[in-house]
Amino acid sequence: MNSRNTSATGAHLIPISGPVGRRQFIVAGLSAGASLMASAKALAQGAIVPLHCVPPLPPGQAAAFSPASGPVRVRKSVFDLTPAEISRLKNAYAELKKLTQADPRGWHHQGEVHCWYCSGALDSLNGMEIHGGWWFLPWHRAYLYFHERILGALIGDPTFALPYWDWDSCTDDPRDMTGRNRFPGEVYGFQGDTTNPLHDSTRAVGPNDRIPTTLVGPTTVKSILAAKSFTDFGGSGNEELPVVADSPGDPQQMGQLEGAPHGGVHLWTTDPRGFSGLSNMGSLNSAGFDPVFFAHHANIDRLWDLWVQGTAHANPKSNRWNNEQPFFFYDQAGTWTGIVISQMTDPGGPLSYRYDPPNWPAGVAVAATASRTLPRTAQATPLGTPLVELNTEAEAKILPAAPTTLNVALPAQVRARVAETASTGTLVLRIDGVEVPSDRGAVIQVYVNRPDATAAAGPSQGYVGSVVIVPSTAPNSLHLHRSVLRNFGFTLAPELVASLANRENLSVTLVPVLGESAKPAEFARYRRVYIAPR
Ligand code: C2O
Repeated sequence: MNSRNTSATGAHLIPISGPVGRRQFIVAGLSAGASLMASAKALAQGAIVPLHCVPPLPPGQAAAFSPASGPVRVRKSVFDLTPAEISRLKNAYAELKKLTQADPRGWHHQGEVHCWYCSGALDSLNGMEIHGGWWFLPWHRAYLYFHERILGALIGDPTFALPYWDWDSCTDDPRDMTGRNRFPGEVYGFQGDTTNPLHDSTRAVGPNDRIPTTLVGPTTVKSILAAKSFTDFGGSGNEELPVVADSPGDPQQMGQLEGAPHGGVHLWTTDPRGFSGLSNMGSLNSAGFDPVFFAHHANIDRLWDLWVQGTAHANPKSNRWNNEQPFFFYDQAGTWTGIVISQMTDPGGPLSYRYDPPNWPAGVAVAATASRTLPRTAQATPLGTPLVELNTEAEAKILPAAPTTLNVALPAQVRARVAETASTGTLVLRIDGVEVPSDRGAVIQVYVNRPDATAAAGPSQGYVGSVVIVPSTAPNSLHLHRSVLRNFGFTLAPELVASLANRENLSVTLVPVLGESAKPAEFARYRRVYIAPR
C-alpha cells in the first residue's frame, strides 16, 4: 500500500564471506580517481576528508572475532578523567597518528572506515549504510571496540578505555552554564591548541557554546530512554512496514537516539549556531577524522547500555540482526576480523568493557553500578493501522523556512482508540520520507498541538523531538547519491496521549532550525505524516 519497498534483503549489504569480485575492484579504482577532484575543495577548507572511501580489497577470508582477553576496560566521562588518564589518552592518539597511512590500524584508516559505511559518502559505490536504522548502534559499538583495542595495544596498556562525552549531563534550562552540554575542550582541545593530538581545526565551538537542550537535555533524553521498543529507541530494519525507501534493504526507521542527540551533536561541533553540517564532525563521510567522534559515540553507546537495562526493554530478536550481518574491522594485531551483533550485545561479555556513571551534578556521589541483567531480546511489535494521517505519501511537500502546521480532525471513534492506547501501548508519530540533498543536513523541531511553536520554544509542552539529518557527503562531491531519505518515529508521552483523547482536532507543527545559516532554507521534503499505535 504505502510501501514502495517491503523486501527483507538488502542488495547493497556485504555478503558474509563472498569474495570481492574483479568488477568491484575496478569500480573502486575509478571512484577513487573521480573523488579526488571532488575532495580538493573540501581539503582546501581545512577539513580532513578522505580522497575516496571505498573499502579496500579484503585480504582474504576474515578471521572470526574471538572474545577479548584481559581486564574489563572502564569507560569514564571525559569530564571526570584524572590528569594521568588525560595524558594516557593523548599518548595513545599520538601513537595512532604516527602509524603510516597504509597501516590498517592507523589513524587515517580509522577515519576512512566510517566513510565506507555511510552510503553516499563521497559517492563511494560500495559499503553498506549503517545509519538511519537498526545497524546504527551495533556497528558503532564494534567500531569503538576495535579502535579502543588498537589504541590500548599501541601504548601497551590493556586497561586503556575511551572516555565518553556525556552531553546529556545538563539541565533543561538553555541558559544554564553548569552542564556538560559543552565541548570537552580541556581534554580534546579548543581552537588553537594544535599541539594536542586530540585537537581538530575544523571545530567551531568555543568554551561558552552550549548544545541546545532541545537536542540533549534531560526531558529529551528521558523520553528517548523511555521508548518501549527498540525500533523507536534504536531504529528498525526490515520488519516494520510501511516505509518510504529508495531501494530494498534501505533503513526503515531512524531510532530517536540517532536523530536528535546524536545528529545534533555532530552538526553543532562544526557549526554551533547554523547547524549547517560542515566537515569534519558535521558530515558523516569525514566525522571519523575528529578524535572527539569516538567520545561522542561512546556516550551513544552508553545510552544504549542504559536503555537495554530498563524494565521490559529488549534488543531485536531477529536472526538477521543478531547473526546474519557481520561487520569487518582490522583488530589490534592488524587482522581482518568479522564480528556479528550477538557477540556484542552485552558490553560485559566478549567485548569486556563497562561504563562508570558520570560524576554529575558536581559533588553528588556516583551511584554504585546497579546489578545488571543480560540484555533481553524480543520480537519487534509492528506499528498498527494508522489512527490519523496528516499527510499522505503521494503528496511530497517542500518544507518552508517558516513553521508549518498540519491539522487533522479527531472524530469520536479515533479519540476512543487514542484513549485505549493511552493505557495499553504507545502512540508513534511517524514522519516518513524526509529527504534532503546528500550534502545537506537538517534540524526540524516537531510539536504536537502547539501551532504557536517557534524554534525558541525549546523542550516545552508539546515538543516531541527533532528530525535531525547529518549530511552524508562533502559539498561538491559527485552526487551519485543525490539525496538521503529517512523515516522518523516519535513516541508520544503518556500525558500528551491522554490530552488527545479530549480534543476534536490535532496539529503537528514542524519548525526548521535555521540558525544563522545563509543557505537557502527550502531544501527538505517530507512525505507521509501519521500517528499509529504500537
Ligand atoms: Cu556513523 Cu555519529 O555517525
